[in-house]
Amino acid sequence: MTKAMKTQLAENIDWVGYVDWTVRDFHGYVTDRGSTYNAYLVRDEKTALIDTVKAPYAEYLIENIAHLTELDQVDYLVCNHAEPDHTGAMPAVIQALPNVTVVCDKKCQAALAQHYDTSEWKFEIVKEGDTLSLGKRTLSFVETPMVHWPESMATYVVEDKILFSMDAFGQHLATTHRFDDEVPVPLDIVMYESKKYYANIVMPYGTPVKKTLEKASKLDINILAPSHGIIWRKYVDNILGLYQDWMVCKSAAKVLVVYDSMWESTAQMAHAINDGASIPGVEAKLFYVRGSDLTTLATESIDAACFAFGSPTLNKTMMPEMAAAMTYLQGLSPQSKAGFAFGSYGWSKGGPKAVQGYMENMKMDITREALECQYRPHAAVLQECFDAGRQLAEMAKKAAEA
Ligand code: FEO
Repeated sequence: MTKAMKTQLAENIDWVGYVDWTVRDFHGYVTDRGSTYNAYLVRDEKTALIDTVKAPYAEYLIENIAHLTELDQVDYLVCNHAEPDHTGAMPAVIQALPNVTVVCDKKCQAALAQHYDTSEWKFEIVKEGDTLSLGKRTLSFVETPMVHWPESMATYVVEDKILFSMDAFGQHLATTHRFDDEVPVPLDIVMYESKKYYANIVMPYGTPVKKTLEKASKLDINILAPSHGIIWRKYVDNILGLYQDWMVCKSAAKVLVVYDSMWESTAQMAHAINDGASIPGVEAKLFYVRGSDLTTLATESIDAACFAFGSPTLNKTMMPEMAAAMTYLQGLSPQSKAGFAFGSYGWSKGGPKAVQGYMENMKMDITREALECQYRPHAAVLQECFDAGRQLAEMAKKAAEA
């Protein structure tokens, strides 16, 4: 923590985490703006540390705590989530805090035991609705299973109306400032990074997110303090509102044309589809899978109403980068989407059909048979691509109005 950094959420409640400026790959997620691992210290008659950081940054966390209190004065370590970006430092932290008891739910205790040697750790097991008095302050625990692991929970400081929301509402975004109203990057970038985070980490868990939002709506929240990125205090309602849209993959009037190409035939088809989809009121976007990354693809996908996925045929199936894109999207399962497959082939078919199989697995509404051409897309094929793109655009408009 730099001395200039404002870290206080409320009197005696401070951020004590680590800003990771250099991380660019977070288990495959492209973090081109870095990240933070947020931990918080609540000091009262009893003192509670809320979460820790990634293993290599344990000493920074311990130093941040030591700036605020004696290490033997920390009574509790609340573990909201067992994933190593928040618990990797726990073994070192527990060694440094001689009087600490780990507070977590039963599933988290089991998960921690599978990651670390917890045989010497002291535990206090909590469940939904339990409270822990720190003196003047009370911690209340809210279970949020599958946001983002089965054992995940959030911790609410009743008196200060602060929700430590764990992964929910976070972003991979390194900044010198901790709060949404003082962060030196435009708000739309913060929101874009929040959307990217949701799309790549949380999107498969729409139903658990809905339950989490229902629980959050019953709490009076002044500050929403996630475990990555900036802390929300001015734009709490904005980010809660965006989650309402994202949890159902709410569609905009947007068509995404995702493709790979070998000798430009499928690329020409993609351009024709995109041209056809480019009508007023519709955002049509070309996404060349070897020109970008899967993290961006997921982000673009969450609010696209309609897709055209294209691949030429290589060895009777799709191109490998396209297979990676389809596999990644299938895992994230964007909901309520529609579209078709397209692509060229030489002497045997297979690429578009393989692509369509993934679309069917994602339960997409298949709007037409795969659009294929042999070797080169001549004028009639390109016209068919253009018309199919136009049809997708009209469908996207209707989906956005629904
Ligand atoms: Fe930031 Fe699911 O860990």
